[in-house]
Amino acid sequence: MKYYLTTPIYYVNAAPHIGTAYSTFVADAIKKFKQMQDFEPVVLTTGSDEHGQNVERASKAIGMTPEEYATRVANEFVSQWQKLGIAVDHFIRTSDPKHTECVRDLFERCLRNGYIYKGSYTGQYCFHDELYVNDAKPGDPCPDCGRPTETVTEENYFFKLSAFQDKLLELYEREPKFIQPDYRRNELTQFVKGGLNDLSITRTTIKWGIPVPGEGNHVFYVWFDALTAYMSAVRDQNLWPADLHLIGKDILRFHAIYWPAFLMAADLPLPKQVFAHGWILVEESKMSKSRGNVVRPGPIADVVGTDALRYFLMREITFGQDGSFSYDALIGRYNSDLANGLGNLASRTLTMINQYRRGVIPGSDGAGHIAEVARTVTAAALDSFNDFDFSRGLESVWSLIGAIDKFIVERAPWKLAKETDEAGIALLDETLYTAAEVLRIVCILLYPVMPDSAKKIWSQLGMKPALEAQRASNLHWGGLPAGQEIGKITGVFPRIEEKPAIAKMKELEIVEKARQDVILGKKPTDAPAAAPSAGINIEDFAKVDLRVGVVLTAERVKGSDKLLHLSVDIGEAKPRSIVAGIAEAYEPAPLVGRKVVIVANLAPRKLRGIESQGMIVAASLEGGKPVLASFLEDVPIGARLK
Ligand code: MSP
Repeated sequence: MKYYLTTPIYYVNAAPHIGTAYSTFVADAIKKFKQMQDFEPVVLTTGSDEHGQNVERASKAIGMTPEEYATRVANEFVSQWQKLGIAVDHFIRTSDPKHTECVRDLFERCLRNGYIYKGSYTGQYCFHDELYVNDAKPGDPCPDCGRPTETVTEENYFFKLSAFQDKLLELYEREPKFIQPDYRRNELTQFVKGGLNDLSITRTTIKWGIPVPGEGNHVFYVWFDALTAYMSAVRDQNLWPADLHLIGKDILRFHAIYWPAFLMAADLPLPKQVFAHGWILVEESKMSKSRGNVVRPGPIADVVGTDALRYFLMREITFGQDGSFSYDALIGRYNSDLANGLGNLASRTLTMINQYRRGVIPGSDGAGHIAEVARTVTAAALDSFNDFDFSRGLESVWSLIGAIDKFIVERAPWKLAKETDEAGIALLDETLYTAAEVLRIVCILLYPVMPDSAKKIWSQLGMKPALEAQRASNLHWGGLPAGQEIGKITGVFPRIEEKPAIAKMKELEIVEKARQDVILGKKPTDAPAAAPSAGINIEDFAKVDLRVGVVLTAERVKGSDKLLHLSVDIGEAKPRSIVAGIAEAYEPAPLVGRKVVIVANLAPRKLRGIESQGMIVAASLEGGKPVLASFLEDVPIGARLK
């Protein structure tokens, strides 16, 4: 059975941020979860909402055509979702000709069925939200954004929304899952019971839109245009009706009143469900350009990884309700749940299998009581995911991680490993098998939320079938094959030091904002003075003490794939101890005797318990390995770089 789901199509007057990323991450997780439940095909649509006054104004202000401007921003959305690893099947742009056809089609069907008429309208309009404000007087603020409304008079086509009041109420009653969560359905039901006014669905005040057939100067109202994108994205693919429209609570009325009414008027099938999630606040306040507290996903993904951000958003925020993002909370959860929790379980279990069973999964049925916990947790997690309650589902998975951690401590495999009798050997086999089997189950359950990390652990367990092809039926206890060789062990969630990580994310955020501002055509003065593009003066540069040193010793840092511990002579009384993230690019031995460049006045910090008294300078290549800075001529030890 197919499953077709959508995110809202995003306005092109803002670039992607964690709010829009949240909708899209959750949609991707639901897609993966539905695949796990054997739906086929599972298709995800997102896109860009490009028409309307705002885009017309914004593009004009920077001397571009609306088409050019919309293309730039739409491309930014496409590339951000790609960078964040979101598996979008269709990215629909409302400027796409196939979309134009679909909108006109919908209009003509409604017209033929007698639900559209021509009239004239004078009213208050909010240009920001592209919304007429009913019952507002000149000068009244928009109830959604608080900006002043403007008076407009237009000859318009109207949609007979008033004719759908009873039909909509019947729909909400007949299909209680049509609007979720329940409390939102109740709110909306009350609203519809209060009566519905006809809706003006064309505009003559705007040029940048889809022209109404046979009417030179009318374009479609943006919501009539935008909602139809859910159909045009999959036109002729036999996927309509959508199974799920995932949206933010701010746009529920459009999706649960206008959209089903348009479709009923056109005699077209209705979507199965509209799920409204809550709002992401940044440190308890609404994110806004004017507050300057917009947080973008890219810098966070660069520092802690996309999966950690996905995990945080889906674990921390009860789906449907508002939730707060903060860098501190992100790193806190990362270290407690991922580094100390899942990451530690994986590396401990696999290392013990390596040490005590030469890297081979021992044969055993596993410990009965843990198998029972796994069964209960699996059922609970699947139920929660089915209700899109990711937070609770993840909480269940972590209760299994907690149970297996406790089990390992109680069994103390490091003691069992010293026993030589049969019972001791069997008990160690059982302990290791149980832990590894829990890991396998956890990987399948977590794949929708943390696809990359789950895949890493999966391959370290030595699993051959692709994780993405695993289904709920593979979750039964005992699916881990005995005798399987595990893969190479690498840390999946290295512990993160809070302060430098937050400083890095904030620094990258400034760069990211400046980059997006260029795309949006904002003047560089909009960027904060601290943005790197503003440049630093020579005094600032002189504060960095760069010195030439020679590597005296080099060794790998235990338990880390990335770190080397070096001692480097920079001409001081004692060599510096430096921990450098270059182990994936350089073997330790050949580094000894090599001249390197060191930042010598960096505050010392501890990495994996080793004090690092400086930083080694290397070129950092996107997606590649670091390359150490070096000299063609010989340079004396201790020389300063200026
Ligand atoms: N273009 C319309 C939607 C048309 S759908 C046919 C629109 N676009 S939007 O760019 O403003 O983004 C809408 C969606 O982005 C919200 O409904 C919500 O899903 C998501 N979010 C934007 N900011 C958000 C937060 N701060 N928090 C959570 N989601 C947010 O409305």
